[in-house]
Amino acid sequence: MIVCVCNRLNDQRIGAAIMEGAECADQVYARCGVRKNCGRCQETIEEMLEENRQALALAAQ
Ligand code: FES
Repeated sequence: MIVCVCNRLNDQRIGAAIMEGAECADQVYARCGVRKNCGRCQETIEEMLEENRQALALAAQ
């Protein structure tokens, strides 16, 4: 599924950037080698980051 239309980033690419250590949307863009354009994807990326944080917190318990 394409999350960032401006940069043609799909959820898998964003998920990989998060797994590589991106901690905010700007770091996701940087790790994907792109820059934020319209910003409409930012909320979805932030949600993916939060889901990852919650999964890591659960795994650490
Ligand atoms: S949809 Fe990602 S910057 Fe526009």
